[in-house]
Amino acid sequence: MKRILVTGGAGFIGSHTIVELQTAGYEVVVVDNLCNSSPIALERVKQITGQPVAFYQVDIRDRKGLEQVLEAHPCDACIHFAGLKAVGESVEKPWEYYENNIAGTLVLLDVLREKKCKNIIFSSSATVYGDPAEIPITEKCPKGQCTNPYGWTKSMLEQVMMDMQHADKEWNIVLLRYFNPIGAHPSGTIGENPNGIPNNLMPYVTQVAIGRRPELGVFGNDYDTADGTGVRDYIHVVDLARGHVAALKAIDRGCGLAIYNLGTGHGYSVLDVVKAFEKVNGVKVPYAIKPRRAGDIATCYSDPTKAERELGWKAEYGIEEMCRDSWNWQRKNPNGFEKQETRG
Ligand code: NAD
Ligand code: UFG
Repeated sequence: MKRILVTGGAGFIGSHTIVELQTAGYEVVVVDNLCNSSPIALERVKQITGQPVAFYQVDIRDRKGLEQVLEAHPCDACIHFAGLKAVGESVEKPWEYYENNIAGTLVLLDVLREKKCKNIIFSSSATVYGDPAEIPITEKCPKGQCTNPYGWTKSMLEQVMMDMQHADKEWNIVLLRYFNPIGAHPSGTIGENPNGIPNNLMPYVTQVAIGRRPELGVFGNDYDTADGTGVRDYIHVVDLARGHVAALKAIDRGCGLAIYNLGTGHGYSVLDVVKAFEKVNGVKVPYAIKPRRAGDIATCYSDPTKAERELGWKAEYGIEEMCRDSWNWQRKNPNGFEKQETRG
């Protein structure tokens, strides 16, 4: 297996995965409509790896566009990151989320089979477990009720792909359920670049630390956890990216349908993250306790042993490296990709 189609490759996880793919010797072709990313991310990838990335500004709902890309660059497998991912926005604009994520993926799957590229890795999420029936969460844990349309798009698309693989055994389909990716490439050249007010914890923490926002709101301190704040399984984005390279090897072995959690297996509370960030980086992160956020659960962390057993993949970085690399990226790029880099 040589050439990989990466949808959504200019985004946070996609750009880090391209670095790992190129480093592992794969050739990469990217389609992204840039609705939530910058083409500068791909220039930065090239700075890191020294290798060019074939990039097409194509929407995955654009059948002709996808066909042309795959005719120009026949691919052996697809890693499918493209999608809208803001939980709150999906509640406000459900149709837009179902249309982009589900209609887009249906077009992509059809073009892939038409072009005889029946190998795909899909970016799924721990959100499909809903309020999980067991902790730590294994892949055998039943899927649950999602609390927002974004989560349902992941859950429904998993079902679509499982049914397609059941009907046509030529497909190899790997569903990767990510826990909470944070951190950035250790070089500080690529990282997470949220638009507007960040929804997620770590980008909010880094923006408070750099002085763009006065304080972090901690959403609830009355959960049934050690310190009352929500517990999550944060995973370094470089580890997550390497999980995709490991999953490609499973596809090479003809895995059929396979589902893996990608997490570290460790749960950290919101206040654990704040404390680790302050300690590692020597900065203060003022915070205030706020009401719970609708749809949040108390605790979510993985049992990642299946991925280790079957893929030989295991997260290597800990919370300190995640905090260090998130801060390094934020300091070097206080305004994300769009503005001049400054060094502090
Ligand atoms: P991101 O927004 O940084 O990357 C997604 C990319 O897809 C963006 O570059 C965007 O421009 C592109 N895109 C969106 N719709 C498109 C379309 N119709 N056609 C072409 N390109 C399109 O997000 P990310 O954090 O890198 O997430 C990547 C994937 O992983 C997403 O599918 C997301 O739902 C999933 N995921 C993310 C997290 C997380 O916490 N970041 C957790 C679980 C799952
Ligand atoms: N939190 C705060 N303040 C903030 C932001 C978050 O206290 O400003 C808390 C949340 O309440 C939660 C924890 O920090 O306890 C993590 O919240 P995130 O928003 O960073 O992450 P979530 O676990 O809510 O969701 C993320 C992605 C989803 C994905 C899920 C599981 O946003 O898309 O991880 O992978 F589905």
